[in-house]
Amino acid sequence: MATARVTTVTLREMKDRSERISMLTAYDYPIARLLDEAGIEVILVGDSLAMVGLGYETTLPVTMEEMLHHVRAVSRGVKRALLVADMPFGSFQASVEDGVRNAGRFLKEAGAQAVKLEGGREVADLTRRLTSVGIPVMGHLGLTPQMVHQFGGFKVQGRTAAAAERLREDALLLEEAGVFALVLEGIPWQVAEVITTELRIPTIGIGAGSSCDGQVLVTNDLLGLFDDFTPKFVKRYANLKETIAAAFTRYRQEVKAGEYPGPEHAFRLDDGEVRRWQEQLDRRRRQVKTLGRG
Ligand code: KIV
Repeated sequence: MATARVTTVTLREMKDRSERISMLTAYDYPIARLLDEAGIEVILVGDSLAMVGLGYETTLPVTMEEMLHHVRAVSRGVKRALLVADMPFGSFQASVEDGVRNAGRFLKEAGAQAVKLEGGREVADLTRRLTSVGIPVMGHLGLTPQMVHQFGGFKVQGRTAAAAERLREDALLLEEAGVFALVLEGIPWQVAEVITTELRIPTIGIGAGSSCDGQVLVTNDLLGLFDDFTPKFVKRYANLKETIAAAFTRYRQEVKAGEYPGPEHAFRLDDGEVRRWQEQLDRRRRQVKTLGRG
């Protein structure tokens, strides 16, 4: 496995030689280290943090401060992968100025190398501005979770010819505005295939079929750690929820039964120190007795 740092240019070169890109989410230091060591090329601190890490029902409530906190933790675990921070809901919609200020914080204060923005033509101006000041942007089209209320739920997008064409136009517009890669989420595979063929930048699919230049999943879904609901496109590569639950149950049983900690988990005082301490205790007890009589 190559050890050079993955950059936005690396991803473009991978597309040019038809090498697939792997991307996963991380929200903390230990998982970031494991992903990086496994050779995952792109690590995203997604605003999915809101749902899989913080227990909210949608991604909307997570704040800039919460995202910064997690991006900092992840960046301490990443040496090689490209680290992308997700712009949370409300951090860029009001104005281009808000977007530039908040995106800049991810690079300056938290160690991200790029940001991800949900949206199509409506974020083209912000994308142009960000890339012009040195902040690389990953686009995100389709079932963009920040639009959940506008969409009336987490619903597959681009299901009509008109909607598919609008997605294709948005993708071309974002490429023209300067995004270095584009996440395509929850759209029919035929739409993702056409967009992938027409773009020079790589597409990263999630619920968008196998023609994309790369794939991304929410790590907690892949590990079987989050099962409040499971989208059709998720493949479970492990069942950590069961493994962790079994470990907690066993720990509780062993504590109750006095089986944990065993002698191998305890610290021992030297025999000499035990003798010295015993002598001190004996002396104190004798003094207390004498005082009691007086
Ligand atoms: O927030 C997130 O984790 C994402 C990925 C699913 C692409 O946006």
